[in-house]
Amino acid sequence: MQVTVSVNGEEHVREIEPRLLLVHLLRDELGLTGTHWGCDTSNCGTCVVLVDGEPVKSCTMLAATAAGHEITTVEGLERDGQLDPVQQGFHEQHGLQCGFCTPGMMLTARALLDRRAGGDPITDQEIREAISGQICRCTGYSTIVRSIRWAAEHPAGQAAEEVSP
Ligand code: FES
Ligand code: FES
Repeated sequence: MQVTVSVNGEEHVREIEPRLLLVHLLRDELGLTGTHWGCDTSNCGTCVVLVDGEPVKSCTMLAATAAGHEITTVEGLERDGQLDPVQQGFHEQHGLQCGFCTPGMMLTARALLDRRAGGDPITDQEIREAISGQICRCTGYSTIVRSIRWAAEHPAGQAAEEVSP
């Protein structure tokens, strides 16, 4: 079947098997390997992408059902050469080690920050609840929570030269 999907603001047309999962469309057909693939059983959350701004585990969604929706992958977070504040937060607060869970964590964080934009300050409890469907085997979560809090406190990010090396 033919499917047209919009990913990071760009439309793609592909001939696919109806059973193809979104994670495989993104990685194998579109070359967007920033979306990681781990358990394939909806447990780890490393495959999270945004579908119309909401986090979705892309191993649970058929690629064909992505038609008509806007998909955002980690490659779409950077804009005009400027890192998203969430990406800067992970850099500033050392929110990753091996990086396998990181794309999904960042996208869930972006959705949380967008949802709460202009509201009361986001609490660590809210951050922990938001990422509760995602597993990190490396960091113990504290640095991830700190990274997301940093992004919440720096909604405009920082100038690139201010980011620590
Ligand atoms: Fe999708 Fe693990 S690969 S939840
Ligand atoms: Fe390694 Fe999270 S940084 S799994």
